Amino acid sequence: MGNRQSILEFLYRNKGKWVSGEKISRDLGISRTAVWKNINFLRDKGYVIESSSKLGYKFISQGYGFDEYKIKNNLNTKLIGQGSIVIYDETDSTNRQAFNLASQGMEEGSIIIAENQSSGKGRLGRHWVTFPGQGIYFSIILRPPIPPSKASGLTIVAAVALSFTLDEFQITNHEIKWPNDILINGRKAAGILSEIKADPDSIDFIIVGIGINLNIPAELWPDEIKDIASSVTDAAGTEIDRCSFLKVLLSNFEKYYFKFLEDGFSEIIDIWKDRSGIINKKIRATLIDESFTGTVTSVNSEGFLVVSTEDGERLINSGDINYI
Ligand code: BTN
Repeated sequence: MGNRQSILEFLYRNKGKWVSGEKISRDLGISRTAVWKNINFLRDKGYVIESSSKLGYKFISQGYGFDEYKIKNNLNTKLIGQGSIVIYDETDSTNRQAFNLASQGMEEGSIIIAENQSSGKGRLGRHWVTFPGQGIYFSIILRPPIPPSKASGLTIVAAVALSFTLDEFQITNHEIKWPNDILINGRKAAGILSEIKADPDSIDFIIVGIGINLNIPAELWPDEIKDIASSVTDAAGTEIDRCSFLKVLLSNFEKYYFKFLEDGFSEIIDIWKDRSGIINKKIRATLIDESFTGTVTSVNSEGFLVVSTEDGERLINSGDINYI
């Protein structure tokens, strides 16, 4: 553990109490100057740490920004979030950056986060709207030892992980909407976009990008999405610490990622089905070149939607659906 992490843990263990610079220096075997410099660094990163020339330092809170130390501190995972953590104040798209970094060899489990994305990517070429400081926008680099045909399972893993994370924050009135949206009270609160680099037989890497409308007050929605978007804070009635939410999500993601690798698709799809309100719903499906209505009867073991229509059973694996 580096000096900075040790100082942070020390202050965190003594949260709300004054500890002298001398004590930190003595207990951790770090020079007084290094203690002072590292605490200044942590403050710059958003930690709220009071200081007094007589009393020393007092840890107040983690602040609201993201940083590597906050994310890795007590992160309950073996892989996800344990690689590199890259944080941008602003970038074009975390998926695009993650794709570039993974192409250069960045390790599995690395996380790319942005406060702001100038061209956040949504499904079907749509733009994903970003609210700096209020939402969570990140991408995970994965290198699963599975054939490319099974890659869509990772999006299902992400949706299931998001759903369990919302449960942990007492947001129970949510559902997964096929293929990978999270709705709260029927409106979209999070989306997932997975992108893959593979040859016909094996996957080089997969980027799972997740955008969450966490602390976005209803009045900030632009007109074009205000009737279809929602945020976690609206349902919770209070703001949620972004870093805490991210850490729970990373841990849930890892749990279901490992489960998917060990037990395969069918187990995870059963969990997904339980958490999606789609079975027996009437829908309109909009594909690239056609649109039709029908009733969803199932989701098959590859994640395709099985829809009963006037013209018989149809399987859908891309496009958009709306409940009717
Ligand atoms: C969708 O619902 O259409 C998918 C939205 C995915 C948005 C996230 S935000 C973080 C990551 N970076 C991107 O450019 N897109 C994904």
